[in-house]
Amino acid sequence: MSADDRLVAVTGATGRQGSAVTRHLLRDGWRVRALTRTPDSDRARALTDLGADVVRADFDEPDTLRAAFRDAHGVYSVQNPMTSSIDAEIRHGIAVADAARDAGVSHVVYGSAGTGASGTGVGSWDSKLAIEAHMRRLGLPLTVLRPMAFMELMTDRDYYPPVSTWHVMPKLMGADRPVVWLSVDDLGAIAALAFAEPSRFIGAALTLVADVQSIDDCRAIWRDVTGKPPRRFPMPVWLFERIVGTDLTTMWRWLRTATIPTDTSETLRILPTAVTVRQWLSAQQTPRASHPA
Ligand SMILES: NC(=O)c1ccc[n+]([C@@H]2O[C@H](COP(=O)([O-])OP(=O)(O)OC[C@H]3O[C@@H](n4cnc5c(N)ncnc54)[C@H](OP(=O)(O)O)[C@@H]3O)[C@@H](O)[C@H]2O)c1
Repeated sequence: MSADDRLVAVTGATGRQGSAVTRHLLRDGWRVRALTRTPDSDRARALTDLGADVVRADFDEPDTLRAAFRDAHGVYSVQNPMTSSIDAEIRHGIAVADAARDAGVSHVVYGSAGTGASGTGVGSWDSKLAIEAHMRRLGLPLTVLRPMAFMELMTDRDYYPPVSTWHVMPKLMGADRPVVWLSVDDLGAIAALAFAEPSRFIGAALTLVADVQSIDDCRAIWRDVTGKPPRRFPMPVWLFERIVGTDLTTMWRWLRTATIPTDTSETLRILPTAVTVRQWLSAQQTPRASHPA
């Protein structure tokens, strides 16, 4: 057992996943060491206000990771290839894993994505499998969380929903194809539950599905909830790829024909309160511009 068995170090703590994990851990009575490259940012200060201990750490500086993980019981690991690159994501995920091993933490919860199967050709899913394989080689006490589509894709401005979710995504994958949804907040709740029950969750790799709705279904729900359809901004696929890259378009083309896990029962057993798309959209009084820390 590590020196402080109520302390979890959360990477990406100023981001969507990390801030949700931090909020839930604090709510559940954990102490949280929140990692960020810029402790004086507004988002970092918001984490301090919540009660987290904000520390500076950079995935590209392994010593800062080792220092941030020292004496921690657990580590929440998440990286973002969209804001760095696939290669950087792998490098960063491996650096976090190595530092967690060096610090001797008792539990690593990894924010992965996708189906968990190889051979999809989706770079940002394969990268996560490579990081997971490294963690397994190290023998880390590991829980893997695999969400596929965050409900925030419909509202978070950073994702450009009028172009991506309401236009290019259905165009490439088919508007009637199933999409498996989870809210980021529920991911945070599930991560906190995993830390609370290590005997249940260490060794588990969980495909997280709270609701299954096609983009057509989501448009109809949106209309029901708000009285008007979501705003759509048509953009040629080649232009979208030039701006965003080809990872998402590869994913959506793959989803056009792929069979994906759509069973919600395991997720709902773990978190019976996990929200549906309808509940989630209804709760967005005014769709949020971005994720609050
Ligand atoms: N969009 C979806 O529907 C979806 C679904 C499933 C999974 N995912 C996965 O979710 C992941 C992204 O998670 P997210 O949305 O929570 O990301 P995010 O909001 O972009 O947050 C990532 C955080 O990582 C930190 N960070 C970035 N570079 C760093 C570095 N070099 N050293 C230390 N910290 C660094 C940043 O914090 P600072 O700037 O404060 O340092 C940032 O706040 C991706 O891997 C994606 O594949 C997405």
